[in-house]
Amino acid sequence: MATTPSTPRDNWGSRLGFVMAAAGSAVGLGNIWKFPYTAGQSGGGAFLMIYLLFVIFIGFSVMLTEFAIGRKTQRSAVGSFKSTDKRWTFVGFMGVLSGFLIMGFYPVVGGWSLAYIFKVGGGLLNTPEAIGDSFGGFISNPVQPLIWMGIYIALNIAVVIKGISGGIEKAGKVLMPLLFLILIVVAVKGISLPGATAGLEFLFKPDFSKVDSSVVLAALGQAFFSLSLGMGAMITYGSYLKKKENLVQTTAMVVSMDTAVAILAGVAMFPAMFAFAIEPAAGPGLVFVVVPQLFAEMGGTIGMLFALMFFIGLTVAALTSSVSLLEVVVSYLIDEKGLSRKTAVFGASTIMAIMCIFASLSLGGLGPTIFGTGAFDVFDLLTDKVFLAVGGMFICIFAGWRMSRSDLEKEITNDGEVSFPLFGLWYNLVKFVIPFAVAIVAYMGISGGFESGQGPIMLLGIAIIAVIALVSKKL
Ligand code: PFF
Repeated sequence: MATTPSTPRDNWGSRLGFVMAAAGSAVGLGNIWKFPYTAGQSGGGAFLMIYLLFVIFIGFSVMLTEFAIGRKTQRSAVGSFKSTDKRWTFVGFMGVLSGFLIMGFYPVVGGWSLAYIFKVGGGLLNTPEAIGDSFGGFISNPVQPLIWMGIYIALNIAVVIKGISGGIEKAGKVLMPLLFLILIVVAVKGISLPGATAGLEFLFKPDFSKVDSSVVLAALGQAFFSLSLGMGAMITYGSYLKKKENLVQTTAMVVSMDTAVAILAGVAMFPAMFAFAIEPAAGPGLVFVVVPQLFAEMGGTIGMLFALMFFIGLTVAALTSSVSLLEVVVSYLIDEKGLSRKTAVFGASTIMAIMCIFASLSLGGLGPTIFGTGAFDVFDLLTDKVFLAVGGMFICIFAGWRMSRSDLEKEITNDGEVSFPLFGLWYNLVKFVIPFAVAIVAYMGISGGFESGQGPIMLLGIAIIAVIALVSKKL
């Protein structure tokens, strides 16, 4: 049973509440765990510049589009497309599938972060030379990470079950500013280490000789992932947004906060990394090795307390993001399938937990592989390199070509009450430029992906999209 648009939706309690919740969705492991290691693997400064260009020209526009679609249709990811034009329902389904896939590995890393709160408290920092090995041993252990992942998912369920203004908003409001402050401490400490300037140079001095099509696609994927775009999370959040809120301002605030945290995480990580002679391309373990080492260097109880606060902050940032991922799936099940919130949350979480078990085991070399790639990397590659960007492309095509320009203008300007002088520019970006740009970057990135062995998985992603497009009309 689908709800009618006139059904009153649970609304965000306050203006700041919405901005913090949307920023809570955006700021997460993507900024603090993924951004530094992806930048590290992709050459540093040049990656950062391309990433920033994508954030400004594509990310901002897509986020505004998602908010506008959500608030206009008052529906979640699937319903918003379905209620406008049934042929476009597949974009919503792509979003729900992306929600499942990201939730198939995100809680694994969330669980690591949770575990590190206890590891740091339990004396990890006393033996700085063993920090790197300890991380490798931990994630390849078949049992330990699973337990933490399970606890993480339980926490996630607890927040989502309470509904919109009750759970999500409160968590975001209190803990986001705390995380920001801790990151500043990490950054200041990192920069003060001997040899740290090489890290800042690596991050801010672009070396374009390192750029190829894979780097450009990685930057695009990172922009979408970090801003929670391309899968209807912001459509869903926008559907709960009050009619009088200023969408443009909200978008600008969320995009700037997210970008500030990513850059801050880079500034926190790279100088320390260079000071400790850790390879920039060290990969997914980066935060879990660099940050404890940095606080071990600081020494004593102070070092331990900061490290504790860092991992508490990171866990909460992860939670406010995964809550929105789960919400995309849950609100689909509630709005379109008529399930109760409880059933939807428990049902979806069970499937996600099973996927996470495969993802976690794959890091220890266990479990099935596809084209020689383990579950963790498959879920990550499919979403980060294919579904989110292609989803964002379809969202733009939908808004530009399927919705009326005047409806969009009315929605974004609150019926003419809010001025948005750049409306024409935004509209043309969404209608013409972004679809084209994403298509080119994705095409080149996927072709280039065959050199690194990621190509077959990405092609599989395109095939899955084609299948969803074909069958979604019947669902
Ligand atoms: N933006 C989140 C992060 O940076 O960790 C991840 C994410 C959340 C991606 C929600 C997509 C999404 F819909």
